[in-house]
Amino acid sequence: MTTTFKSGESSKAYKTKTSQLLTMLVNPRIIFNEIPVGLPDTNTLVVDNSQSMDLESVPVQGGVLVKTLALSLDPYMRNRMRPVDVPGDMPALPLGETVTGFGVGVVLRSETPLIKVGDHVYGFMPYQQYIVVPSIGANSLAMQGLGLQVLENKYNVPWRYYVGILGMSGQTAYYGLKDITNPKPGETLFVSAASGAVGHFVVQLAKAQGLKVIASCGSDEKVKLVQGLGADHVFNYKTANTMEELKRHGPIDVYFDNVGGATLEAAIENAAQKARFVLCGMNLWLLSRYRVKMEGLIMTDWVDKYLDEFLEVVPRDLASGKLKYLEHVYHGMDKVGQAFVDLFTGGNVGKSVIVLEEEDAH
Ligand SMILES: NC(=O)c1ccc[n+]([C@@H]2O[C@H](COP(=O)([O-])OP(=O)(O)OC[C@H]3O[C@@H](n4cnc5c(N)ncnc54)[C@H](OP(=O)(O)O)[C@@H]3O)[C@@H](O)[C@H]2O)c1
Repeated sequence: MTTTFKSGESSKAYKTKTSQLLTMLVNPRIIFNEIPVGLPDTNTLVVDNSQSMDLESVPVQGGVLVKTLALSLDPYMRNRMRPVDVPGDMPALPLGETVTGFGVGVVLRSETPLIKVGDHVYGFMPYQQYIVVPSIGANSLAMQGLGLQVLENKYNVPWRYYVGILGMSGQTAYYGLKDITNPKPGETLFVSAASGAVGHFVVQLAKAQGLKVIASCGSDEKVKLVQGLGADHVFNYKTANTMEELKRHGPIDVYFDNVGGATLEAAIENAAQKARFVLCGMNLWLLSRYRVKMEGLIMTDWVDKYLDEFLEVVPRDLASGKLKYLEHVYHGMDKVGQAFVDLFTGGNVGKSVIVLEEEDAH
């Protein structure tokens, strides 16, 4: 079962039909317009319509031409929004250039036997309507997680799910919980940002494994949603005292940290002996007193080990309704500015996705 939150109307500009292949088309793209000071604003990411592409004649250089269907918006993107000479974990986004990130699209033309016209692909790509991905080779396809993957979609879920619960967000929850925390039935798990893209999946995975789940999120509406996912105790961290809540409902065996800061400190204070913390979001201290095991999570480290299992289990459970998926869908690239602001101000519920075009899964 899926709950989809819609923001605004569909934008006609992006309703280009495949039948219009023969024309020169505007190729809208999302550009990194301004380095934010603190939180991003609606000027941080903007749409540029100055480029066009002839879909029939553009050289694909032994690769593929892809029409983008949906794009992921993620908190890590804020870390890339810095001057290019400032070091960081991921390369800085060059100012004025097309944003890159996780997207899903459909192949319009192919010059490689590895990918057919009509195949759907997922990977790290420029945020624009039409993309040429040149020289696709076996190596590129094998780079699961970051390279372009051809999607199988055995359970016919909407293609946009592959930038959310079936993409980086879902895999982060799945891998992080599994190996790093090794949870046992009856243990208590706490997860922050519990209505978010990663958090709402952690809640459900933990309940399915027999854990008691404490969850925090930033509004009463979100609290109700997360209660609906089966969490045992959910609180609004903006109106409740996190330390008190954890004292009353803890101690915590497993903490899946999506926010760092004071919430992480409260979780450490209320850790059980031999607790395991997943540092997905961030901070440290008081760890030794409670023999806490903390392990940093980088989703891509676990792809080789678990991707096949993930793609078998999660689409099946989504299709059967066992797993619920919360999405915040924004229609059209022109919503990107507000959508990105929402991500940092709690205005989103579930996975934030920019949908350019809906397609049946079949
Ligand atoms: N390590 C990895 O490989 C990896 C991979 C993916 C994601 N992550 C990290 O996982 C975390 C969750 O990512 P996501 O994609 O699931 O994002 P998300 O939860 O869908 O969106 C962000 C949410 O965080 C909450 N939030 C925003 N600012 C906050 C603040 N200052 N303090 C506390 N909460 C705040 C808001 O919810 P409320 O209204 O509830 O506050 C907002 O809705 C992020 O820190 C992200 O960087 C790490």
